[in-house]
Amino acid sequence: MVSLPFSTTSASAVETERIAATLSARLVPGDIVLISGELGAGKTTFVRGAARALGVADPVTSPTFTVGQRYSAAQPLQYVAHVDLYRLASLEHEDPDLLADYTGAAIVTFVEWPAAGREWLEGLGRVAMRVTLAHLGGESRSIEAA
Ligand SMILES: Nc1ncnc2c1ncn2[C@@H]1O[C@H](COP(=O)(O)OP(=O)(O)O)[C@@H](O)[C@H]1O
Ligand SMILES: [Mg+2]
Repeated sequence: MVSLPFSTTSASAVETERIAATLSARLVPGDIVLISGELGAGKTTFVRGAARALGVADPVTSPTFTVGQRYSAAQPLQYVAHVDLYRLASLEHEDPDLLADYTGAAIVTFVEWPAAGREWLEGLGRVAMRVTLAHLGGESRSIEAA
């Protein structure tokens, strides 16, 4: 298993999915993974690779009309959840149950643009990993996990 902190570069979306799959072997039900990086850095691509490795069969796309989406996963997981807080400046005035469907003891939760909810998320589960992706030009990306 890969130990943290971990740092690498990816040359393609497929490679980012593969790296995400490798890193996902560390995760257990209840874990929360924070994923940071600019638009197009590959956050959703990373979630796709990790979700697949955790037994998600359905196609993983960006949540559009909701703050998150959840997918049936393989035992012992019930769901993989994918949350995107891009549109939220802060969770301060949000419904405390906003993320109730997306976090829990049988769920692994991936959160894009976590800044707005960082403290909140820390109260909802174990933040098991923080991933940062960055553009390095062309299809090249740096990927760091801690
Ligand atoms: N090395 C790479 N890793 C991840 N995505 C890449 C890479 N090279 C090119 N891409 C492309 O960049 C885009 C990343 O989009 P996405 O994963 O939705 O980013 P984000 O969620 O960070 O906005 C996709 O179109 C993907 O195919
Ligand atoms: Mg995205």
